[in-house]
Amino acid sequence: MEAVVPKKQFVDVINNFCVVSNIDDLLGDSVLDSLSWKVFKESWSDLGLDEYMNDGGKYRKRNFCKLRYHVEDDSLWMKEHDFYFQPPSVNALNGGLERWFSPVKGEVFYNSVVNTLLKTMGSELSKLTGQKTWDINFYQNRIISELGEAGKPSPEGIHKDGVKFSILLLMDRSNVTGGENTIFDLDKKPIFSHTLTQEGECIIFADEPTYHFASPIEQISPDVAGKRDILVVEFY
Ligand SMILES: [Fe+2]
Repeated sequence: MEAVVPKKQFVDVINNFCVVSNIDDLLGDSVLDSLSWKVFKESWSDLGLDEYMNDGGKYRKRNFCKLRYHVEDDSLWMKEHDFYFQPPSVNALNGGLERWFSPVKGEVFYNSVVNTLLKTMGSELSKLTGQKTWDINFYQNRIISELGEAGKPSPEGIHKDGVKFSILLLMDRSNVTGGENTIFDLDKKPIFSHTLTQEGECIIFADEPTYHFASPIEQISPDVAGKRDILVVEFY
């Protein structure tokens, strides 16, 4: 029988609260060269506008779904489309509201990179925590900077996701500066900063012992919109 050794990245998340990795190392495969990755990346061209920004911003596009994973039979399924809710104590800007985002498309759920990533994360987190069932929030986010306006990945400021673990995976970024991720301890003292610049690079962090924030992105050339495409997945 194969020994159950947790992947180093997840051990580091438990021990240090956060880790930088990339999709190839995480899944132990040449994901970035695969057709599935290319198709997944291209699905960011089909996201709905987030109409719920209380700052009036039109700079975020998002598709969203909720999933569940059971480690015992390695099963993963998408729940019926539902609203997303955060209490105002977790999100002062947009909390307290049932937010209906555009649904994640079926072909994205069935994409082999998505399937492998979610099952890998679910099973690795199970090995380390003993939790056998994971509820999952899955967001395809695009932040845009255009017409001289910055785009804000964290419009609510320094915050928590209100979950146990999150991954931020960079799908694409072009014509922007900024978007630096910082993780803080519970006294809101910064403990780690990193800017995701390489396609497939990711940050995995434990949400309960930390806060986090990503700085605004700013367009470099004024001739074309700047963008930062991120997959966010939360486990709880
Ligand atoms: Fe967050």
